[in-house]
Amino acid sequence: MIKLINVNKIYGKADSAVHALKDVNLELEEGKFISIVGKSGSGKSTLMNIIGALDSVTSGEIECRGNVLCKMNDVKLANYRNKNIGYIFQSFYLEPTFTVLENVAMPLTIAGVKRSVRELAAMEAISKLGISDKTTKKASELSGGQKQRVSIARAIVHNPDIILADEPTGNLDSQNGSEVIRLLQSICDEGKTVILVTHNIDDAKKTDIMIEIKDGVVANIIHHTEEEKLAAQHASDYDEQGNLKEKNMLDNKDEEATIPTSDVATEGAEL
Ligand SMILES: Nc1ncnc2c1ncn2[C@@H]1O[C@H](COP(=O)(O)OP(=O)(O)OP(=O)(O)O)[C@@H](O)[C@H]1O
Ligand SMILES: [Mg+2]
Repeated sequence: MIKLINVNKIYGKADSAVHALKDVNLELEEGKFISIVGKSGSGKSTLMNIIGALDSVTSGEIECRGNVLCKMNDVKLANYRNKNIGYIFQSFYLEPTFTVLENVAMPLTIAGVKRSVRELAAMEAISKLGISDKTTKKASELSGGQKQRVSIARAIVHNPDIILADEPTGNLDSQNGSEVIRLLQSICDEGKTVILVTHNIDDAKKTDIMIEIKDGVVANIIHHTEEEKLAAQHASDYDEQGNLKEKNMLDNKDEEATIPTSDVATEGAEL
């Protein structure tokens, strides 16, 4: 369980103070896909950063898996983050001159894991994301959708229990955006807690629990049934005539990459 108890966050002081979170009380069940929605400036990222121990509270408490975050010193907090949390951001934050493998392995490099072990773990995460054919490419050579898959692989490489994604689809087209949401759901299906900040209500409808923030206050908590989630998924996968909108890129990714051009030509000729 992740618990927020009377959490307040105030940025700045005196006249310039911004009360970004106001007496927030929340209990988040683990293993769920949770979305946080609300207008720009409502406090979504602040809430996310506080849950992810990237920022501290002004008052109140956060308990996460039995750890009281406010009581930890910086070293303990860094250990806590490295062990428990994976982060995904709108702007990816990849190291452009590093390869996909090096980027994905980064959390393990920081944790001091030896090269052979971290490369194996990174290759496994890369394969899960269907981008094995990009392993040795530099991050700067990838498309936005590919970059976000790399950043998702990096977020899961150290096997954290909580994945935080702050507008991960914000820089992607709708096809890649849908794919990222589907990937986050599959990570959740493996028993992880996934917390998604999004402006896209259609995506939020695909999550188990939708939390709406208004002006730093939790205004609404909506639980979705499996049927509602499936209906939301269906609505984004199919058009009004019932035709599949987009080819599922991920399912075909590695397969496509391994088919030599000549085979493709032969298949085409036979058809
Ligand atoms: N580091 C900071 N210093 C001062 N004020 C801040 C800081 N970070 C956020 N704020 C303020 O806190 C409020 C909440 O910001 P936050 O970034 O959490 O909003 P958000 O809901 O994520 O918005 P967006 O959808 O635009 O990303 C805003 O008024 C913002 O200006
Ligand atoms: Mg934000």
